Amino acid sequence: MAEKKQQVSRRQFLNYTLTGVGGFMAAGMLAPMVRFAIDPVLQASSSEEMHAVVDVSELTNEPQRFDWTIEQVDAWYTSNVTHSAWVYRDENDEIVALSPTCKHLGCAVNWNSNPDFPEEFYCPCHGGRYYKSGLNVPDTPPNAALDTFQMEVKEGTLYLGDTVPNPVQEGGAN
Ligand code: FES
Repeated sequence: MAEKKQQVSRRQFLNYTLTGVGGFMAAGMLAPMVRFAIDPVLQASSSEEMHAVVDVSELTNEPQRFDWTIEQVDAWYTSNVTHSAWVYRDENDEIVALSPTCKHLGCAVNWNSNPDFPEEFYCPCHGGRYYKSGLNVPDTPPNAALDTFQMEVKEGTLYLGDTVPNPVQEGGAN
């Protein structure tokens, strides 16, 4: 069987060479620009950070609201965002930190604010109620317990992180 010899003309050779070299150079110039443009999107989220909120010596058995502000970076936009927690010590002297965000439609709940429902968290938007543990009172609008925060105590200071589902949701304890 006769072997067919492929001929490459000088013009084709130059075309292939220039296309390859040009493509390589273009990729070398574009890669840093693309990387620069999308860099904020590639940054690791800061959601795992813990934030100093309060000296634990200030905590009592009565829920108190504490606020803290963090710098939030969303891609290219940086803003200061204030977070809040209702924090107290339970009957076992364990620290409880509850999110104030109502599980119905997201309004902020307050402790002991409605005289008709003392010793409860009350949501003024639609009358949502929660026991001190954060568990939602049956037959009120919320259908889940207030979230709790990831927490740790370092050198006498309470640090809070992301919200997590409240463990009382499972146990149903008040
Ligand atoms: S948002 Fe709280 S009861 Fe509706």
